[in-house]
Amino acid sequence: MAGVVEWGLLVIFTLCGVNGDSPLYSNEPALRCPPDADPKRCIFKGHQTDEYLFNIDGNNLSVTYGVAYFQMPCLKGVPLDSNLLPSFGRVTAVPRLTLRGCALPEGPLAEVLTARNLSLPAISTLNLYNIPPDSNALTQDHFHLLNLTILSVTSEAPLSVSADFLRNLTLSDLRLVNVNLTSDSLHQLPQTLRLLSIKRSDLEDLPVIALKRFITLNRLEVESKRLHSAPLQVVASLRSVEIRAPLVELTVGAELKNASFSLAAPAPGGSCFVERLMLFGVEEHILQAWLQRCSNIHTLVYRCAAGGSVGREPLQGSGVKTLREFHVRNCRLRDVEPRWLAAATGLLVLDLSSNKIEALPAELVVTCEGLQEASLRNSGAKKADVRALTTATTLRSLDLSYNQLGDLCPTAAEHNPNAVSLLSRLVELRKLELLNTGVTRLCADWRRDLAWLSDLNLRYNNITELQREDFKWRREITSTIDLRNNPIHGLVYASREYRASRESGETASVTIELDSELQCDCGMYWYARSLQDRGGAPARVSLGPLVCTGGTALEDMSLEELVCTVPSPPCPKDCICTAHGGGITVRCNQVGMKRPPDLPSDLSSITLLDLAHNNITEMPTAVMLPTGIMMLNLSYNDLERVNSEAVSSYLGKPGRQLWLAGNPFLCTCENVDGLSALRANSASVSDWEALRCTDGKAIAGVEITTLCTSSLTFSAPLATLCVAAVLALVSVAVFLASPRVRKHIKWLLWRRWPDGWDEEEKDDTNYEYDAFVSFSHCERERAQVVASRLEGMGRRLCVHHRDWRPGELITAQIVSSVHSSRRTIVLLSDQYLASPWPRAEFRTACAHAQRSTSARLVLVLLPELSALPEALSSHPDLAAFVASNTYLEWEDPFFWEKLERAVPVPKVEPITRY
Ligand SMILES: *[C@@H]1O[C@H](CO)[C@@H](O)[C@H](O)[C@H]1NC(C)=O
Ligand SMILES: *[C@@H]1O[C@H](CO)[C@@H](O)[C@H](O)[C@H]1NC(C)=O
Ligand SMILES: *[C@@H]1O[C@H](CO)[C@@H](O)[C@H](O)[C@H]1NC(C)=O
Ligand SMILES: *[C@@H]1O[C@H](CO)[C@@H](O)[C@H](O)[C@H]1NC(C)=O
Ligand SMILES: *[C@@H]1O[C@H](CO)[C@@H](O)[C@H](O)[C@H]1NC(C)=O
Ligand SMILES: *[C@@H]1O[C@H](CO)[C@@H](O)[C@H](O)[C@H]1NC(C)=O
Ligand SMILES: *[C@@H]1O[C@H](CO)[C@@H](O)[C@H](O)[C@H]1NC(C)=O
Repeated sequence: MAGVVEWGLLVIFTLCGVNGDSPLYSNEPALRCPPDADPKRCIFKGHQTDEYLFNIDGNNLSVTYGVAYFQMPCLKGVPLDSNLLPSFGRVTAVPRLTLRGCALPEGPLAEVLTARNLSLPAISTLNLYNIPPDSNALTQDHFHLLNLTILSVTSEAPLSVSADFLRNLTLSDLRLVNVNLTSDSLHQLPQTLRLLSIKRSDLEDLPVIALKRFITLNRLEVESKRLHSAPLQVVASLRSVEIRAPLVELTVGAELKNASFSLAAPAPGGSCFVERLMLFGVEEHILQAWLQRCSNIHTLVYRCAAGGSVGREPLQGSGVKTLREFHVRNCRLRDVEPRWLAAATGLLVLDLSSNKIEALPAELVVTCEGLQEASLRNSGAKKADVRALTTATTLRSLDLSYNQLGDLCPTAAEHNPNAVSLLSRLVELRKLELLNTGVTRLCADWRRDLAWLSDLNLRYNNITELQREDFKWRREITSTIDLRNNPIHGLVYASREYRASRESGETASVTIELDSELQCDCGMYWYARSLQDRGGAPARVSLGPLVCTGGTALEDMSLEELVCTVPSPPCPKDCICTAHGGGITVRCNQVGMKRPPDLPSDLSSITLLDLAHNNITEMPTAVMLPTGIMMLNLSYNDLERVNSEAVSSYLGKPGRQLWLAGNPFLCTCENVDGLSALRANSASVSDWEALRCTDGKAIAGVEITTLCTSSLTFSAPLATLCVAAVLALVSVAVFLASPRVRKHIKWLLWRRWPDGWDEEEKDDTNYEYDAFVSFSHCERERAQVVASRLEGMGRRLCVHHRDWRPGELITAQIVSSVHSSRRTIVLLSDQYLASPWPRAEFRTACAHAQRSTSARLVLVLLPELSALPEALSSHPDLAAFVASNTYLEWEDPFFWEKLERAVPVPKVEPITRY
């Protein structure tokens, strides 16, 4: 088996070896030390793809060779004609040849190349780069037998050349850098050139006769500190020119389209139809002169000399009309003339990047009606300068990066709901770049007003948190907000956003890119929950994978881990309060607490209160518990008595749970009410089976109804007592015959009123009214019925459409009405719950009632109210009240009697009205 594999490999090697031209498949490297070289002085070290490594006389040499190129650097002390240099194993054709740092040999290059086994006719491009200073001069001899079309020569010191050094070549491209060309050699350059580039030269002159010879020259590049004249008009074929010289004289031909001049460039003679013009380091008046002379400029790139400035006079001339793109760089924009760009009405692109802006006039671009792109990148721009650009409402792309602009949104201090950011007028904007501008948040009006914005780059800024509004981005088009490299540590994403995302079911069209590590605590709860529920983008906005500090992906965190510790205060002493997305958990265990802790209103969203293992002797009443509480653990305390009111009001709300095991409950007659209440709600008492009497009996097994009778054994004293009782009953029966007493008894039997209502506020004379009627406008008639009925019986009522003083603030009137009335009667209907003013009245009354010892709020459920649980589900304050208080039902047959009782007639005359 192994033999077959080896044989197969051998076949492959042999086949490849035959086709030896290709270096890639050869079994032997294409390059190696020449056979006649001293093996101690030239060592082949191996090759990787196109790189061949040698060590020659102790120095590393890296030669690159691919199918179309061969590049070899020279080593110090190893001349090009040395037989130590690597050579090909067979004659090899390579079209592009580069020698780097090689001094020119005395004889033809052809000899050197043939010795390396390179095929001469194949070479069409020769690059002689970095010729060292001590090289021989370049002569015609060097190119003997070479048929080149492209030649580049760069030298480290001015390289001497013979006048006719290129005589036998038919070049199309010639690039010379630091070559000492005489005007004599210029006259002998190949006529066939299409590109001529002469840089770092001392050229003094571009002789007309020399230039005229070039009939195919397309592009000319010249760099010389001594060139003063460029008669380019004589080269009719010239389309592109780049000259860096102190020119004083210049002519151009009609074919010239691209022109770039540095140092100095007088406005040209000849016919100028340049379309793309670059002027670097020339004075502003020269720019103006070009615009006067050339009528077809589309793109103008202007760069000031160091410390130069621009913009002090309006751009003028025929070239301004055609201007589409204007790039200004390296200038100081100081005292800019407001009409600087006024004539450039066709401008599409204005690039003022890399400048030192001192102030831009507000009118700068008002006449540029079609402006589409603008940039102030890295130009020292301030907000006022940005404002100058925002008059161009047609802008589609704006780059303000690398300017210290700070927060761009209207500040809260502005108090104006219509305040907008600087950019809100740019409604056509597609692309906005604000990298490193000190931005701290995304502005609401970008989301609202910039409907087409699809590419918002905010990298390298100071945004620390994603706001809830940031999740409301919505675009018809897909868009990206890049927030990478911002110190973002969290999101504002609460249950509200969670619900909205569940309901909307929209797919995200906006992607926010983040790369910072987030603080994964209770703040991330709802977003994480959304992620888990939806398994995809949980909002209109997709955030990509989020990473928590420490590197864990948010998706891999369990919801239980996403919590925050609430400090003390507000957390009560000796307790541990933990906030999570669903609410706050308060645990106070084994701290010897004698009564339930006072829970501050800051902790209103408490859902669990764990007071197990303490010494609490009394159950907390409804008033002491937060309204949202769902779990209350009182197990292992010192509770002996069960407060039936507390149990019923707490467990009256569906879904609540209670723990009570481990308390020394008294199973006696006096505790019957409480134990009955527990039994009635035993489904909600989670450890019902574990509740014990002091004697160890399970309360679940006790026959509660017998607690009061079981100890009764008929004895003589008891018999006497019974007789007395019978007598008493008889007298009561007589007493009951009086109708007034009957009515009183009926109230006692109903037992529906909270304790407070049975006691009159006898000395409470400071009320202007006996009741204030709160109702929605739909229940006006009923309110009138209530008012006339109660007033007919001597009570004073406050009804807002009748008793409110005109012109006073509604909110103030509500407060004053509630406070000056002994009771507030709320006529509760669906309309009531939907209207803001009645609800405000309710809240005020509720707050007032809580501060008072006697009940002040009389809730009347009208037939117009839909089923109570649904109606209350969205009104937690109301739900809390209904859960712990009694209410009247309009359709109750005893409604009027109950109402009259609920609104007592004052014992003392009320104070006179104003
Ligand atoms: C030559 O290259 C080898 C690795 O290829 C390296 O270890 C060595 O230092 C190099 N020698 C010189 C003189 O740069
Ligand atoms: C050049 O190639 C031939 C084979 O074509 C080979 O015999 C000779 O050794 C090579 N010369 C050098 C200097 O490598
Ligand atoms: C240049 O070409 C001429 C004739 O075209 C020829 O006589 C001369 O030898 C060539 N010179 C070199 C250095 O190849
Ligand atoms: C030189 O190369 C060109 C094409 O690159 C070819 O047309 C011409 O015939 C060649 N001249 C010589 C003398 O080989
Ligand atoms: C360039 O060549 C001319 C004449 O050959 C010579 O006078 C001049 O010094 C040279 N310039 C440099 C910088 O070598
Ligand atoms: C941005 O944050 C850095 C580091 O916190 C701070 O030095 C810099 O002043 C902030 N910049 C702005 C504009 O708020
Ligand atoms: C509190 O209760 C524990 C047992 O639950 C008991 O050991 C302790 O003595 C009690 N402390 C007080 C002050 O009653």
